[in-house]
Amino acid sequence: MKLIAGNWKMNPISLSEAKILLNKVKSDTKRTKNVEILICPPFIYLTNLQQATDNRRQTTGNPVGKPRVSYGAGLKLGGQNCFWKEKGAFTGEISALMLKNLGCEYVILGHSERRSYLKETNEMLAEKLAAAINARLKPILCIGETGEERKQEKTIEILKTQLESVLNQVISRQLSVANLSIAYEPIWAIGTGNNCSTNEAMTILMFIKKELLKILPEKLVKRIRILYGGSANSSNVKSYIETGFDGFLVGGASLKAEEFVKMVKICDTAP
Ligand code: PGA
Repeated sequence: MKLIAGNWKMNPISLSEAKILLNKVKSDTKRTKNVEILICPPFIYLTNLQQATDNRRQTTGNPVGKPRVSYGAGLKLGGQNCFWKEKGAFTGEISALMLKNLGCEYVILGHSERRSYLKETNEMLAEKLAAAINARLKPILCIGETGEERKQEKTIEILKTQLESVLNQVISRQLSVANLSIAYEPIWAIGTGNNCSTNEAMTILMFIKKELLKILPEKLVKRIRILYGGSANSSNVKSYIETGFDGFLVGGASLKAEEFVKMVKICDTAP
């Protein structure tokens, strides 16, 4: 099944706006069946939004308060980051276990904005990935090259390091990566409106698969979803699906309910 993840980043600035956005996406995607929809809001909204994403049962509109089963594949919630320790004296941090206990199913790790602004390293990400797996969260590991690295034809080298250094650590600890997704996000394409051409993205997709096959059994590699991120929108998602991507990590477009819903529907009906 395809996965489409909305990374809201540090948006919107109030809970009421967050609720409006989430409810709009939820109500307009009720009939989707073949796509997993994931919303990763700021941590501070997770508890409030968790109620709205309860896909199993909902009590509203039922006079006797008896839960009724809702339909559709439903929305899932995820964190945009987590810390590598379970609990303790780590001011300002949120653990993978806390996210899990709150009802999150996924966590994004290694987004380029965290790598650049918060100086997250591949070593830190190996620890974070291990923590997420231990907490039974499904991690989405982001990898990608800067515009400068691309110009210098270092893309493959950068992606190889990002993948190998993190995955080898986790595998050596006998942790399962069966629920892992990898998001290829060329940094030069993020938030620029200048998405990566499908030809170029296809080369990277093939490379990622080949790299995974070097370190993991084929059966496992087939389970790992590879997502595209970087100015993905309703006019280009179809071409990435045709290229072989298993879904998307969406920034800007996930803040516009109508546009995001359009993207979800394209993923839902794609072969
Ligand atoms: P964008 O962001 O869709 O706004 O380019 C993608 C991301 O940062 O995950």
